[in-house]
Amino acid sequence: MCGIIGYIGDKQALPFLLDGLRRLEYRGYDSSGIAVKNGDIRVHKRTGKVADLESKLPKKIEGTCGIAHTRWATHGGVTNANAHPHCSEDGKIALVHNGIIENARMLRNRLEKEGVKLRSETDSEALVHLIHREISNGAKPLTAVRRTLKRCRGTWGLCVIFEGHDKIICARNGSPLVIGVGDGENWIASDTLPLQALTQHVILLDDGVLAEVTSESVKTSRVDGRSSDSEVTTLEDDWGEAELGDYPHFMLKEIHEQPEALRQCLTGRLDLKDGNARLGGLGLSSKNLQKIPYVRFLGCGTALHAAQVGRLSIEQLARVPALAHVSSEFRHNDPVIHSEAIHFAVSQSGETADTLAAVKEIQLKGGDVRGVINVVGSTIARQCGKGCYIHSGPEQSVASTKAFSNMVAALSLFAIQIGRARSLSRAEGQRLVRSLQEVPQLVEEYLADPGPVKKVVKIVKNAKSVLFLGRGISAPVAREGALKLMEIAYIPCLAYPAGEMKHGPIALLEKGSPVVVVAPNDSLKDKTISSIHECRARGAKIILIHEAGDSIAEEADISIPVPSTDPMFTPMLTVLPLQLIAYHTALALGCDVDRPRNLAKSVTVE
Ligand code: M6R
Repeated sequence: MCGIIGYIGDKQALPFLLDGLRRLEYRGYDSSGIAVKNGDIRVHKRTGKVADLESKLPKKIEGTCGIAHTRWATHGGVTNANAHPHCSEDGKIALVHNGIIENARMLRNRLEKEGVKLRSETDSEALVHLIHREISNGAKPLTAVRRTLKRCRGTWGLCVIFEGHDKIICARNGSPLVIGVGDGENWIASDTLPLQALTQHVILLDDGVLAEVTSESVKTSRVDGRSSDSEVTTLEDDWGEAELGDYPHFMLKEIHEQPEALRQCLTGRLDLKDGNARLGGLGLSSKNLQKIPYVRFLGCGTALHAAQVGRLSIEQLARVPALAHVSSEFRHNDPVIHSEAIHFAVSQSGETADTLAAVKEIQLKGGDVRGVINVVGSTIARQCGKGCYIHSGPEQSVASTKAFSNMVAALSLFAIQIGRARSLSRAEGQRLVRSLQEVPQLVEEYLADPGPVKKVVKIVKNAKSVLFLGRGISAPVAREGALKLMEIAYIPCLAYPAGEMKHGPIALLEKGSPVVVVAPNDSLKDKTISSIHECRARGAKIILIHEAGDSIAEEADISIPVPSTDPMFTPMLTVLPLQLIAYHTALALGCDVDRPRNLAKSVTVE
């Protein structure tokens, strides 16, 4: 969602701010702005793309301290006035803010009663006026921000600059903020991505912490006045480029990165000799794994679909009950938590507010949660403490692709590990490990020759709706295909376990209705063929994703074969054509593939 970048040092701030804004674009936004201090503070902001802002900037903006923001509207519409930075009435303080100030209405009313002329409809603007009032009463910048935050309820990641002070005050509570530490210069950002090309040394601020950042120092303390550590973490080199390279879109680039992403996830974790998997970061011994009464997953969107695949693998290999929950529902349903059960929070960004809230609810009730996360050092990863990184490399397209495959791969590893600790034989473990090891190569083979995807685009691009069907482990894959097409091509899509089709969705079918069926060569295939017949009898066009060489291809109007693998690992292959169908359909419809309307990459509001 909203993004922040700030700079203070001995160089010009503007290039860092603009580059940072461009790198934050992937998060989703509808306006952007910058504030640069050079004696006084100059602010430029507008709705639209960062390129629109850039094209309207004066030729010269000098200053070695500045802050910038991409806004995704929550409080107030998409207008220039609501874009950040927000300024105090005298223009001497500028602020950017991510998060939501829950008592903003009350704070805004009070400010207005006191005669402050509010210029926007945002919750964030109240903060800058409150800080200004503290400064007018003689407080220093850090104290002014601290006193203001003590009056606020809600979440914030914020940066403030002040005329007459060579420092940036920043604070975090529920909205991530990272300080990039340099030599005679420092940066502040809402995630590590814009910092990657600048420094490997970062301070990951904790909730409730404030920082006073100058070009030479970073001093942290807590809002309640207690001291706080500012431990510098060295980021490991992430594989994968955060740049587009030769690809037209991040989504296509990330689809094609899947073979390498999978290799990164599996490397060092497969034990061929014992037919086992190694996920040391989970901190679970065989003894622990034997005692687990059940496994529960939490996730949203694509992460939830990966979790639904994972839960089926675990039940099958370990014969232990496993469930996958929608994070946003979980904590509101007053869940019963068993202290010996294992919970997994599955998330690409590691910042999804709903999943984070579910993690906290489990921990509050004495439960044990591990993260299955892509972004290293992200909030959920840190909140869980233990877990397994999926190593997808940076994923910037809003539509998640390579993270899905890697989540499935990581959960397959766990399924083997818990299976081996319980009833799975060594021989069966070895067979599965060998088969999992081959998956990256099979993904590569499919992507080199993806089949008649463009024929499918012709059928679905003008459809009123598209129905996706699958059974067993392919049911969540069907859901993932529907989510992908819906979110980037804006076509209404329904996904159902194939057997449910006759209980309702069949009513939608008429001559020419596209139905995408995911039917690998597993034990459920024959039942899926019956569903296909039911659809055809109503005139539907069948787009069939199946394993190469399988005679089921005869059932299709358009058949897309994928390489064969063990039934448990088919989701990493059957999902590929679905990703490509969504991508090429969105492209054919002229949609903004990487930044679909109304969506954000990391959803940091509940
Ligand atoms: O960062 P997370 O994996 O926690 O994100 C969860 C969902 O917001 C995400 O998967 C979303 O559904 C994607 N846009 C799907 O492509």
